[in-house]
Amino acid sequence: MAFFLAVANRKGGVGKSTVSVMLAHALSVWGGKRVLIMDLDSQCNASLILIGGQGWSEARKANRTIADYFFDLFDGQSLQPKEYLLHGVGDVANGDGRAPKLSLLPGSLLLEDVQGELFLKQAQQSNDPDIVANRVRGRLEQLLRRFEGSFDVVILDCAPGLSFAALAALKIADKVLVPFRPDYVSQLAVDRIALIIEGKRNLDDLEEIPIEDRRYVCVANYVRDANGRERTLIEEIALVHPMLETQMPQRDGIANAFDWVSERQPIEQKYGNGVVDLKQLYSEILPMIDNAT
Ligand SMILES: Nc1ncnc2c1ncn2[C@@H]1O[C@H](COP(=O)(O)OP(=O)(O)OP(=O)(O)O)[C@@H](O)[C@H]1O
Ligand SMILES: [Mg+2]
Repeated sequence: MAFFLAVANRKGGVGKSTVSVMLAHALSVWGGKRVLIMDLDSQCNASLILIGGQGWSEARKANRTIADYFFDLFDGQSLQPKEYLLHGVGDVANGDGRAPKLSLLPGSLLLEDVQGELFLKQAQQSNDPDIVANRVRGRLEQLLRRFEGSFDVVILDCAPGLSFAALAALKIADKVLVPFRPDYVSQLAVDRIALIIEGKRNLDDLEEIPIEDRRYVCVANYVRDANGRERTLIEEIALVHPMLETQMPQRDGIANAFDWVSERQPIEQKYGNGVVDLKQLYSEILPMIDNAT
């Protein structure tokens, strides 16, 4: 049974794709885990980082993206889900120079359109939009879970905002990692996603769930001033929400997560001065996975 780790925040540009890809590399290379990344964002950043522009174009042309997967299998057709996956993705190597066990369900520019089409399809069977929305989300949840037998960890890189796919990911996740940038508008974004994940209406209701029992955990990213104003902001958020000890600074090595090179390299080389941050992040996430499975 796979551990489902969603990486989500309704706010854009906070490091969701960066953290998803870095953890996928770390868990597959250092942890020896069989990892699948599902790219739930129509910007397709995770896919571009893991297979490069050409690889992604080929997946689109072959109709082997997440939009195709949802569309083709929504009605329970007997196509093989595994045909939509690419294996040995990413540009880092194991110690022996070979590809780690890292797979991808490639993203699609059409993911939003397909979700709209699935809604309309389902709407032919009911006039109640809530029922229709629940059915679409429920079906997407089943489709996201289909791969759980083949992997140790499934990382769901969510789009900003709240698509059906993102809501389905939040629902099935064993843990939701919420990256945020320590600025004044972030707290609101963290509050909002926390309420959605825990199904609560307001922060008073959320407080009923002890911090250590929450299904999500926050991580400060793009930290530039770890001892000043940003530290106060992080501490304030940590009073209300679970928070990793790891803080990811603004670093060139972390920005390297977004580079794609066609030749495999050791993970230490790819992330350069960001390896120390990745090691720390990995050491906090790994026990969550190992203790759950
Ligand atoms: N710690 C960091 N240090 C330096 N650059 C970073 C760091 N974290 C993220 N970035 C850069 O910030 C940009 C946004 O990061 P990323 O795309 O991962 O965010 P996102 O939350 O996935 O965005 P979106 O909501 O658009 O999907 C990228 O260019 C990335 O390289
Ligand atoms: Mg992203």
